[in-house]
Amino acid sequence: MSWMHVGRGRFRVAVTTALLATALAVLPGCGGCNSKPDYPPNLTFPPRADRLVLRLPDKPAIVINDPGKREQEIAAIDTLGGTTADVSTISADARGQLDKFLKDTFGTPAAPTIALEGEAATRLKLSTAHLVEGSRLFRRHCLQCHNMVGDGRGTSSNTVPFPRDYRQGQFKFATSGDGGKPRRADLVRTITDGLKSTPMPSFGLLQEGERDLLAGYVVYLAVRGEVEFASLRALAAGQPDDPGARVKAILAEWEKAESATPLPAEPPDEEPGKPAHQDAVKRGFALFTAKADNSCISCHGEFGRKPVLRYDVWGTVAKPADLTQTTLKSGTRPEDVFARVRFGIPAVRMPAHPKMSDREVWDLVRFVRSTPFMVQLPEEVRAVVWPK
Ligand code: HEC
Ligand code: HEC
Repeated sequence: MSWMHVGRGRFRVAVTTALLATALAVLPGCGGCNSKPDYPPNLTFPPRADRLVLRLPDKPAIVINDPGKREQEIAAIDTLGGTTADVSTISADARGQLDKFLKDTFGTPAAPTIALEGEAATRLKLSTAHLVEGSRLFRRHCLQCHNMVGDGRGTSSNTVPFPRDYRQGQFKFATSGDGGKPRRADLVRTITDGLKSTPMPSFGLLQEGERDLLAGYVVYLAVRGEVEFASLRALAAGQPDDPGARVKAILAEWEKAESATPLPAEPPDEEPGKPAHQDAVKRGFALFTAKADNSCISCHGEFGRKPVLRYDVWGTVAKPADLTQTTLKSGTRPEDVFARVRFGIPAVRMPAHPKMSDREVWDLVRFVRSTPFMVQLPEEVRAVVWPK
């Protein structure tokens, strides 16, 4: 019998050695991730093959999306009164030209670039050196959910909400207004804090510079994706296409967001329980529950306990936030809520409120931030929000 023991002993030694070797290989840098090979240089971004969502159904959605059923849900949009386009109808010739343009202009995952005359890419901190580093970081931290091309269809994307598809150039949580692009700082904030109560994690432990490079790479994927989306849309409709002009126009939009007016300073009434705060909450409550088309309560039914589901620009379903809960995806700081009310969330068709005075928006902020906390609500408001 003793030979068996020897055999086992040898096996144990072999396993231990293998483990030790792995441990040593992993040791340098951050858990071995630096030693992972980069993307192969001949790897290219795959041409977009999934349907383009062009028009959304007018009706509210009935059920929230099923994890892993994104393609089926998008294909159903046509049967619900919306419109999608099938890109496989585009001629191989036109498609080939577009794919060549995309490769010449945006490079590959291992060698990303924005090859364009003019300084826009440099001003947006999207130089080739930035993008190459950003691509490495993205591969390490974001790929499994957002996927190589940024379509939100990575190997771990069977979640609800689905990871963001960047390819329409649309984002939810911006402080720049006009329904346009977010500021780079908005993307950095999302990457740093994550989106609460969704699978989007916080990357606050990465260095500041790394988070900024990641934000830049998200912008790059969004620009590339939006150019492809808009060109495919034109080609599918049999229209002429000028992708070069499009790149410039889209970069100009990203630049515009950087020079947007900063948010106004917060008025000094933020002390829950004090008369000034109670008055603000009452005014905010009145605005929230006003009997008007598109008032807050028309979507955030029963303050969000009974939300009216909405189709979003990706052809999937968004759920108006439950404002009786203590978390909001993009944070509950007064300025976060201010930006949400003022600028809305165009991607889910939550309206912006450009005509409201700053004071009215702050009143809504006071109300929204106090909703989960019974003791902060004036009695008559509490009786409606938290009925016994
Ligand atoms: C575990 C999956 C997961 C990982 C990993 C992940 N994300 Fe996300 N991300 C999500 C989900 C889910 C959403 C959409 C949440 C929503 O819309 O409610 C999202 C949304 C976003 C958004 C959109 C914000 C907006 O305003 O619309 C950005 C930008 C983003 N992620 C960047 C990143 C970056 C950069 C990384 C890597 C550093 C990363 N994510 C890693 C799941 C993930
Ligand atoms: C047309 C429907 C609609 C209207 C009207 C609407 N919302 Fe929303 N709202 C939404 C949807 C949908 C979401 C969820 C977005 C998501 O998480 O994808 C949302 C999310 C929010 C959020 C959470 C943001 C976060 O970070 O998670 C706040 C706060 C909010 N709405 C406040 C308001 C207020 C205040 C009003 C009125 C001024 C209002 N909403 C009007 C649809 C609407």
